[in-house]
Amino acid sequence: MDSPNFRFVKADICDRDAVYRLFEEECPDIVVNFAAESHVDRSIEDPGIFLQTNIIGTSIMMDACRKYGVHRYHQVSTDEVYGDLPLGRLDLLFTKETPIHTSSPYSSSKAAADLLVLAYYRTYKLPISISRCSNNYGPYHFPEKLIPLMIANALNDRSLPVYGEGKNVRDWLYVEDHCKAIDLIIHKGQVGEIYNVGGHNEMTNIEIMKLICKELGKPESLITFVPDRKGHDLRYAIDPTKIYNELGWLPETSFNDGIRKTIDWYLKNRSWWEEIISGEYKSYYERMYSNR
Ligand code: TYD
Repeated sequence: MDSPNFRFVKADICDRDAVYRLFEEECPDIVVNFAAESHVDRSIEDPGIFLQTNIIGTSIMMDACRKYGVHRYHQVSTDEVYGDLPLGRLDLLFTKETPIHTSSPYSSSKAAADLLVLAYYRTYKLPISISRCSNNYGPYHFPEKLIPLMIANALNDRSLPVYGEGKNVRDWLYVEDHCKAIDLIIHKGQVGEIYNVGGHNEMTNIEIMKLICKELGKPESLITFVPDRKGHDLRYAIDPTKIYNELGWLPETSFNDGIRKTIDWYLKNRSWWEEIISGEYKSYYERMYSNR
């Protein structure tokens, strides 16, 4: 952010005038759309904003790319567009041939955006690419998501709410490895292609929570079983063969190293997340967890 060619502009991607103004000022040659409403629980509570930001916002960004011209528009998507896989079938993985089969308002809004991106490619020849990544973790992860929430709660000696039996499986990837994959795709990936990104690092939620307790020296008795999320996806697992074969991408950070780095970051940046959990987030937390 200290770099002279860096500029931060706070604007809503649904604000067409603001987006067009920015394109006029900056003339970008590559656009990467990371902007999304991303939390499944919030989408279950109130889908509207997910449709607005994730679908309408994506169309406005692509309209700007068409109007002003870019070399590449890259859409950061999610493996959740594939729905879920059964537990205990380690032979099954998401590939790019897996049909779209969404479960939540969140994943449906991301799938809708992906279809729109593919439509802009076919109809307007917009030079697009899409990446569908597994669960990320690392610094600055908003403490509504599993890993940062459990770290923050454990550090405050609060209970750690695990949904259902805690047996759901996610495929975790350190955030910098995801960023490196996107960097490779926008520079060397093929236009019109979809790349699945994941590191073969499947873990159950309960395993993650026990690991966090151990790393922080907190008792496992903090773990509390709460009623399940509605429509809760059982298992996500990515087959990253295509991005490895075509672009040579492999994750560089092991889960053990990544989770230690992440915990260390939350310990050193307590004021960042303390401020978040004391604001609007507090009423969200009460709504989401007090009646569970
Ligand atoms: P989350 O971080 O919300 O990511 P996603 O649902 O997109 O995979 O949740 C990861 C897993 O952790 C998911 O199976 C739901 C579960 N979970 C809990 O058990 N308790 C919680 O408080 C949260 C936020 C998630």
